[in-house]
Amino acid sequence: MTPAQSYPHLDVLFITPEIHPLNKTGGLGEVSAALPTALSEFGVNVRILIPGYPQILNGLKNKQKVAEFAAQSSFPAATLLSARLPFGASGNVPLFIIDCPELYWRDGGPYTDPRGHNWPDNAIRFGLLSKIGAILACDASPLDWHPDIVHCNDWQSGLVPAYLHFHKGAKAASLMVIHNLAFQGVFSPETVSQLGLPQSSFHVQGVEYYGGMSFLKAGLYYCDHIVTVSPTYAREIQVPPLGFGMEGLLSLRRERITGIVNGISDEWDPINDPHLEQNYSMDDLSGKVINKTVLQQQLGLTVDPDVPLFGAVSRLTYQKGYDLLLRIVTQLIDIPGQLVILGSGEATLEQELMRMARNHPGKMAVRIGFDEKLAHLIEAGADSFLMPSRFEPCGLNQMYSQCYGTPPLVHGTGGLLDTVVDYTPESLADGTATGFVFHELTPEAFLGALERAVAAYRDKSVWRRLMRNGMAQDFSWRASAADYRKIYLSLLHRKR
Ligand code: ADP
Ligand code: GLC
Repeated sequence: MTPAQSYPHLDVLFITPEIHPLNKTGGLGEVSAALPTALSEFGVNVRILIPGYPQILNGLKNKQKVAEFAAQSSFPAATLLSARLPFGASGNVPLFIIDCPELYWRDGGPYTDPRGHNWPDNAIRFGLLSKIGAILACDASPLDWHPDIVHCNDWQSGLVPAYLHFHKGAKAASLMVIHNLAFQGVFSPETVSQLGLPQSSFHVQGVEYYGGMSFLKAGLYYCDHIVTVSPTYAREIQVPPLGFGMEGLLSLRRERITGIVNGISDEWDPINDPHLEQNYSMDDLSGKVINKTVLQQQLGLTVDPDVPLFGAVSRLTYQKGYDLLLRIVTQLIDIPGQLVILGSGEATLEQELMRMARNHPGKMAVRIGFDEKLAHLIEAGADSFLMPSRFEPCGLNQMYSQCYGTPPLVHGTGGLLDTVVDYTPESLADGTATGFVFHELTPEAFLGALERAVAAYRDKSVWRRLMRNGMAQDFSWRASAADYRKIYLSLLHRKR
């Protein structure tokens, strides 16, 4: 019997504002493609709901109209289309797309205009995503498919549990997944009535949040269960500062919070990654140095197989801690080491990193922008991957790095702490060491870890063992998908 045949029937509506490879801005996009696919391999009948941005409508073939929604409250009329993901080993996961050109057919990103400013009507844009998500998850749905569970991701679908709470008929159980508590979807109090929520919900026991209304707070307050993307982050958000003002509510609901570490998709595998100059594996690491050489050549770094090359790929924001890296760049270069950074985000951080790179020609390279191919080459070509994040709900690159034999060097927070084992003589001896962890968020502690990494790098046998330990880890989605499935089943059980 295959795994899919042995499980009871479970229908899940998975709501997301982004999906890889159509419109990814970060980790949520990757999770939204990989987790539903992994769940469907477990026999869970998942369907995804996403707004009809140009990238989604242009990227999907054979779209069929399945329902119409009339204009109501401040929402324009919208059409619901269905299609299937253009990939997936187990048969492609079905999607519902909200076609509402007035709200979603625009140049720019899912959340921001081309200049990086939040769309002024984001409350309506994601209010509609939540509203239609809630309708599909209750007995008012125009479809004959009725999910048992509605799986909401981040603030953009945070109003689903609120709409469902005020719906009197039959409805799905709701799961609110926090990928990043720092993004809370806070709007003015008038938004409550504009989005058709009862005025009584504007209350501390409801959607009210420090005088405004918050989509995320609504989700966390009204949902049946909360998941965060790592167990450590689940604990960190119950106290300041990482609770970002929600710690009171979260600690009250602590019995209803579970941490589940994300998996990574099989697109991140050095054995068959099409973006690499040369594929390689744990048994034959010879291709790694070829990628390092190409990376050094492409980015104008001095070609040298022996110098430790540190890499980073990230959104350049306060969360990711690159300001800390800027404070130790000179020491890193003097070791001697090399540094390559790919990212985009806050203008001041971008400019400061580029200025530093100009000061260290041949030793430091910075590329501003979003470049999937270069991201893969950095994972393969760098010797070690840097993630000095102030906080990191899960993080994906530290897991890619381990699979690519590029031991990560990370700040000990959230998912980084849960997925990287610090190198010590003991952890190397027992085969668990996979990278370097520093705990105090200071330039000195970061530099200390960097020096430990360089010392380990110089001992070829130590470094090879570290690389191999990382490459032997199983970060596939299987275990995480099984944990989500358990939660879905427990919610169903509780509801009955
Ligand atoms: P977050 O979601 O907070 O940005 P994650 O570590 O979960 O962090 O996921 C980030 C994802 O986005 C990774 O797959 C990373 O490789 C990718 N990424 C981030 N910035 C870039 C970039 N400039 N170019 C290519 N990929 C990027
Ligand atoms: C968020 C977090 C990141 C996490 C990702 C996917 O963007 O910042 O840590 O890996 O979501 O869950």
